[in-house]
Amino acid sequence: MTTFAVLLSGRGTNMRAIASAVRSGRLRAQLSFVASDRADALGLRAAERMGFETAVLPYDAGRAAGEKALAALCTERRIEWIVLAGFMRLLSPAFVDAYRNRIVNIHPALLPSFPGTDGIGDAWRRGVKVTGVTVHLVDEGVDTGPILAQKAVPVKPGDEREDLERRIHRAEHFLYWRTLSELFSGRDLTARRR
Ligand code: GAR
Repeated sequence: MTTFAVLLSGRGTNMRAIASAVRSGRLRAQLSFVASDRADALGLRAAERMGFETAVLPYDAGRAAGEKALAALCTERRIEWIVLAGFMRLLSPAFVDAYRNRIVNIHPALLPSFPGTDGIGDAWRRGVKVTGVTVHLVDEGVDTGPILAQKAVPVKPGDEREDLERRIHRAEHFLYWRTLSELFSGRDLTARRR
Protein backbone atom coordinates (compact mmCIF):
# COMPACT_ATOMS: atom_id res chain seq x y z
CA MET A 1 0.00 0.00 0.00
CA THR A 2 1.16 3.55 -0.75
CA THR A 3 2.77 5.19 2.27
CA PHE A 4 2.62 8.91 2.98
CA ALA A 5 3.31 11.51 5.64
CA VAL A 6 1.43 14.74 6.33
CA LEU A 7 3.22 17.97 7.32
CA LEU A 8 1.31 20.82 8.96
CA SER A 9 1.88 24.00 10.94
CA GLY A 10 -1.57 24.91 12.21
CA ARG A 11 -5.08 23.63 12.89
CA GLY A 12 -4.82 20.58 10.70
CA THR A 13 -8.36 20.45 9.35
CA ASN A 14 -7.03 19.22 6.01
CA MET A 15 -4.99 16.56 7.77
CA ARG A 16 -8.15 15.48 9.62
CA ALA A 17 -10.14 15.22 6.40
CA ILE A 18 -7.38 13.12 4.82
CA ALA A 19 -6.94 10.96 7.91
CA SER A 20 -10.71 10.34 8.08
CA ALA A 21 -10.68 9.27 4.44
CA VAL A 22 -7.87 6.82 5.26
CA ARG A 23 -9.72 5.48 8.30
CA SER A 24 -12.96 4.95 6.39
CA GLY A 25 -11.19 3.26 3.47
CA ARG A 26 -12.14 5.96 0.94
CA LEU A 27 -8.41 6.73 0.57
CA ARG A 28 -6.52 3.48 0.22
CA ALA A 29 -3.09 4.36 1.59
CA GLN A 30 -1.11 4.27 4.81
CA LEU A 31 -0.72 7.54 6.71
CA SER A 32 2.57 6.71 8.44
CA PHE A 33 3.08 9.88 10.48
CA VAL A 34 2.03 13.50 10.90
CA ALA A 35 4.84 16.00 11.52
CA SER A 36 5.06 19.71 12.25
CA ASP A 37 7.63 22.47 12.50
CA ARG A 38 5.66 23.72 15.52
CA ALA A 39 5.33 21.77 18.75
CA ASP A 40 2.16 23.74 19.59
CA ALA A 41 0.34 23.03 16.31
CA LEU A 42 -3.26 22.07 17.05
CA GLY A 43 -3.10 19.65 14.14
CA LEU A 44 -0.52 17.52 15.97
CA ARG A 45 -2.87 17.09 18.93
CA ALA A 46 -5.68 16.17 16.55
CA ALA A 47 -3.48 13.55 14.86
CA GLU A 48 -2.55 12.08 18.25
CA ARG A 49 -6.20 11.89 19.24
CA MET A 50 -6.92 10.04 16.01
CA GLY A 51 -4.18 7.56 16.91
CA PHE A 52 -1.58 8.54 14.34
CA GLU A 53 2.11 8.78 15.07
CA THR A 54 3.34 12.38 15.33
CA ALA A 55 6.71 14.12 15.26
CA VAL A 56 8.00 17.64 15.91
CA LEU A 57 10.70 18.62 13.44
CA PRO A 58 13.56 20.66 15.01
CA TYR A 59 13.08 23.73 12.82
CA ASP A 60 14.03 25.82 15.90
CA ALA A 61 17.59 24.78 15.14
CA GLY A 62 17.20 25.91 11.51
CA ARG A 63 15.73 24.56 8.28
CA ALA A 64 18.64 22.18 7.65
CA ALA A 65 18.06 20.50 11.01
CA GLY A 66 14.31 20.29 10.43
CA GLU A 67 14.69 18.77 6.99
CA LYS A 68 17.40 16.35 8.13
CA ALA A 69 15.04 14.95 10.75
CA LEU A 70 12.22 14.80 8.21
CA ALA A 71 14.39 12.98 5.66
CA ALA A 72 15.48 10.46 8.30
CA LEU A 73 11.86 9.75 9.26
CA CYS A 74 10.83 9.40 5.64
CA THR A 75 13.63 6.93 4.93
CA GLU A 76 12.95 4.93 8.08
CA ARG A 77 9.19 4.69 7.32
CA ARG A 78 9.71 4.18 3.57
CA ILE A 79 7.56 7.19 2.76
CA GLU A 80 6.54 7.46 -0.88
CA TRP A 81 4.61 10.75 -0.78
CA ILE A 82 4.87 13.85 1.40
CA VAL A 83 1.58 15.72 1.73
CA LEU A 84 1.71 19.35 2.84
CA ALA A 85 -1.46 20.48 4.61
CA GLY A 86 -0.95 24.03 5.81
CA PHE A 87 2.82 23.55 6.26
CA MET A 88 4.02 27.14 6.30
CA ARG A 89 7.71 26.53 5.54
CA LEU A 90 9.44 26.61 2.21
CA LEU A 91 11.30 23.34 1.61
CA SER A 92 14.89 23.75 0.41
CA PRO A 93 15.73 23.12 -3.27
CA ALA A 94 17.85 20.12 -2.20
CA PHE A 95 14.94 18.54 -0.30
CA VAL A 96 12.50 19.21 -3.15
CA ASP A 97 14.96 17.63 -5.56
CA ALA A 98 15.34 14.53 -3.38
CA TYR A 99 11.55 14.05 -3.42
CA ARG A 100 10.92 15.43 -6.94
CA ASN A 101 7.26 14.97 -7.97
CA ARG A 102 6.48 13.23 -4.69
CA ILE A 103 5.56 16.27 -2.59
CA VAL A 104 1.98 17.57 -2.85
CA ASN A 105 0.52 20.82 -1.53
CA ILE A 106 -2.91 22.40 -1.23
CA HIS A 107 -3.41 26.11 -1.68
CA PRO A 108 -6.61 28.10 -0.94
CA ALA A 109 -6.81 29.97 -4.25
CA LEU A 110 -6.88 29.26 -7.98
CA LEU A 111 -3.15 29.26 -8.74
CA PRO A 112 -1.31 30.95 -10.34
CA SER A 113 -3.47 33.68 -8.77
CA PHE A 114 -2.83 34.63 -5.15
CA PRO A 115 0.12 32.44 -4.15
CA GLY A 116 1.75 32.86 -0.73
CA THR A 117 0.65 32.71 2.87
CA ASP A 118 -2.75 34.45 2.61
CA GLY A 119 -4.42 33.20 -0.56
CA ILE A 120 -7.95 33.67 0.82
CA GLY A 121 -7.31 37.17 2.18
CA ASP A 122 -5.51 38.33 -0.96
CA ALA A 123 -8.38 37.14 -3.20
CA TRP A 124 -10.96 38.67 -0.84
CA ARG A 125 -9.22 42.07 -0.80
CA ARG A 126 -8.89 42.04 -4.61
CA GLY A 127 -12.66 41.64 -4.86
CA VAL A 128 -12.69 38.55 -7.09
CA LYS A 129 -16.06 36.93 -7.76
CA VAL A 130 -14.60 33.45 -8.14
CA THR A 131 -11.66 31.97 -6.30
CA GLY A 132 -11.01 28.38 -5.29
CA VAL A 133 -8.61 25.65 -4.28
CA THR A 134 -5.57 24.14 -6.00
CA VAL A 135 -3.72 20.88 -5.37
CA HIS A 136 -0.27 20.88 -6.95
CA LEU A 137 3.13 19.22 -6.93
CA VAL A 138 5.80 21.15 -5.06
CA ASP A 139 8.79 22.59 -6.88
CA GLU A 140 11.41 25.10 -5.75
CA GLY A 141 9.08 28.11 -6.00
CA VAL A 142 6.27 29.40 -3.78
CA ASP A 143 3.09 27.61 -4.92
CA THR A 144 4.43 27.27 -8.48
CA GLY A 145 4.58 23.51 -9.15
CA PRO A 146 2.51 21.55 -11.70
CA ILE A 147 -1.23 21.73 -11.04
CA LEU A 148 -3.01 18.45 -10.30
CA ALA A 149 -6.56 19.56 -9.51
CA GLN A 150 -8.58 22.71 -8.96
CA LYS A 151 -12.04 23.54 -7.72
CA ALA A 152 -13.67 26.92 -8.22
CA VAL A 153 -15.44 28.54 -5.26
CA PRO A 154 -17.77 31.51 -5.78
CA VAL A 155 -17.72 34.66 -3.68
CA LYS A 156 -21.42 35.28 -3.13
CA PRO A 157 -23.18 38.64 -2.72
CA GLY A 158 -23.41 39.51 0.95
CA ASP A 159 -20.54 37.19 1.93
CA GLU A 160 -18.39 38.08 4.88
CA ARG A 161 -14.81 36.93 4.65
CA GLU A 162 -15.60 34.12 7.11
CA ASP A 163 -18.30 32.78 4.75
CA LEU A 164 -15.76 32.56 1.96
CA GLU A 165 -13.21 30.93 4.25
CA ARG A 166 -15.73 28.29 5.28
CA ARG A 167 -16.65 27.56 1.65
CA ILE A 168 -12.98 27.27 0.65
CA HIS A 169 -12.16 24.93 3.50
CA ARG A 170 -15.13 22.73 2.63
CA ALA A 171 -13.84 22.50 -0.94
CA GLU A 172 -10.32 21.70 0.30
CA HIS A 173 -11.50 18.93 2.58
CA PHE A 174 -13.14 17.15 -0.34
CA LEU A 175 -10.66 17.91 -3.13
CA TYR A 176 -7.47 16.93 -1.30
CA TRP A 177 -8.18 13.29 -0.47
CA ARG A 178 -9.89 12.72 -3.83
CA THR A 179 -6.84 14.02 -5.66
CA LEU A 180 -4.47 11.99 -3.46
CA SER A 181 -6.53 8.91 -4.19
CA GLU A 182 -6.09 9.37 -7.95
CA LEU A 183 -2.43 10.25 -7.58
CA PHE A 184 -1.65 7.24 -5.39
CA SER A 185 -3.33 4.97 -7.91
CA GLY A 186 -0.67 6.00 -10.40
CA ARG A 187 -2.60 8.43 -12.54
CA ASP A 188 -0.64 11.24 -14.25
CA LEU A 189 -2.73 14.22 -13.19
CA THR A 190 -0.41 16.75 -14.84
CA ALA A 191 -1.29 15.41 -18.31
CA ARG A 192 -3.63 17.62 -20.30
CA ARG A 193 -5.62 14.71 -21.73
CA ARG A 194 -6.61 11.73 -19.68
C1 GAR B 1 -5.35 25.63 4.28
O1 GAR B 1 -6.36 26.52 3.87
C2 GAR B 1 -4.29 25.51 3.21
O2 GAR B 1 -4.81 25.60 1.91
C3 GAR B 1 -3.39 26.65 3.52
O3 GAR B 1 -3.30 26.64 4.92
C4 GAR B 1 -4.56 26.21 5.46
C5 GAR B 1 -4.29 25.18 6.53
O4 GAR B 1 -5.49 24.87 7.21
N1 GAR B 1 -2.10 26.54 2.88
C6 GAR B 1 -1.47 27.55 2.29
O5 GAR B 1 -1.87 28.70 2.33
C7 GAR B 1 -0.18 27.19 1.57
N2 GAR B 1 0.33 28.27 0.80
P1 GAR B 1 -5.59 23.57 8.11
O6 GAR B 1 -4.37 23.58 9.05
O7 GAR B 1 -6.85 23.71 8.86
O8 GAR B 1 -5.55 22.38 7.21
